Amino acid sequence: MANRTENSLRCSISKRPNDGFMLLTATFAGIVIGFLLGISFPTLSLTKMNFPSSILPSVNIVHVEDEKLEKSATLSPSKGLKSSDAAFHKIWVPSNPRGAEMLPPSFVAAESDFYLRRLWGLPKDDLPVVKPKYLVAFTVSYEQRKNINACVKKFSDNFTIVLFHYDGRTSEYDEFEWSKRAIHVSVPKQTKWWYAKRFLHPDIIAPYEYIFIWDEDLGVENFDAEEYIKLVKKHGLEISQPGVESRKPITWQITKRIPGIEVHKEVKEKPGHCKDPHLPPCAGFIEIMAPVFSRDSWRCVWHMIQNDLVHGWGLDFALRKCVEPAHEKIGVVDSQWIIHQKIPSLTGQGTAQNGKSAFQGVRERCKREWTMFQKRMSRSEQKYLKEIASASSNSTLT
Ligand SMILES: *[C@@H]1O[C@H](CO)[C@@H](O)[C@H](O)[C@H]1NC(C)=O
Ligand SMILES: *[C@@H]1O[C@H](CO)[C@@H](O)[C@H](O)[C@H]1NC(C)=O
Repeated sequence: MANRTENSLRCSISKRPNDGFMLLTATFAGIVIGFLLGISFPTLSLTKMNFPSSILPSVNIVHVEDEKLEKSATLSPSKGLKSSDAAFHKIWVPSNPRGAEMLPPSFVAAESDFYLRRLWGLPKDDLPVVKPKYLVAFTVSYEQRKNINACVKKFSDNFTIVLFHYDGRTSEYDEFEWSKRAIHVSVPKQTKWWYAKRFLHPDIIAPYEYIFIWDEDLGVENFDAEEYIKLVKKHGLEISQPGVESRKPITWQITKRIPGIEVHKEVKEKPGHCKDPHLPPCAGFIEIMAPVFSRDSWRCVWHMIQNDLVHGWGLDFALRKCVEPAHEKIGVVDSQWIIHQKIPSLTGQGTAQNGKSAFQGVRERCKREWTMFQKRMSRSEQKYLKEIASASSNSTLT
């Protein structure tokens, strides 16, 4: 992430003499309170009651007692903790996130956000009263800045904007006013799904209700993001995309905009394309060019993205595994629609090799990844089903 100000603005404790004084005052106040508590409730001390650790009601109480004991230990060193007492008061909360079991639960910060904060003032006053509740991420090059600017303008202040720069040209975006409040991530020649897997973990973007993960070559003249979200909510779509208009042929019929309606969830494909009218590509299906995920569906889809299959081909056919029933919760919004400009971008960023052009090389990898994704998924499903079957046959034997 761009961090131009790191050196000049890093907090320097030694420059703030007042803090030392405040700390002393706070410590003194703590000692006095601890002393008063100690003399008013002497019988409450857990160590004196000598409970075995297994019947302690809650770890929180242990924690509070711990604080009190520390203070009284400061007051009179003779009453200090014995090493056995220290073990007695150890925090261990199995329901905490993995690895954080030794921390008091109410202190654990398991989730994060992309909200920008100030370096001064009170932390509670850093954020606007209405915090952004949606997120849009574009994977961009500098060449497409005009189109990205047009896209960003279709997203209100209720959106956090994330730009993944695959050509390393980040600061050039500063010509746009909104760039200052955007999150810029710059890693050369990586794909949208590579970035999404690494920088959009569901716990990191937990406050956002909807997540747009979009390509850079979409025309948005007929699109408004707030209106789009209203429709998505109204029709119960967990995974969606705007309808697409394109001068060139469209690969999958379901993505094509149907004028005059708000939303569609299924279409007729060419004969033989769909085994079942409720299955992709006839239903339960959108493309990976301009997907929109609800918070819950993204939690599942993020887990489905394979670290090495960076082009994301095949992902669209598997999205239906993340929502139930897929043919009702996956759909296309027709009344807020986009134009696919089909400008070759990242596909031109490969390396010519073995007599194949850069474009050919990338294309081949896309197709190979699609096969690999499908194979991996079906093998994993079979493995799981086999394990389930053998477990249940074992249990019926006994
Ligand atoms: C942002 O969200 C708030 C609260 O839901 C809403 O009142 C407001 O109209 C939204 N802003 C825009 C520009 O739509
Ligand atoms: C079921 O039993 C077989 C043979 O006893 C054993 O190899 C296998 O691990 C068992 N499976 C499970 C899930 O317990």
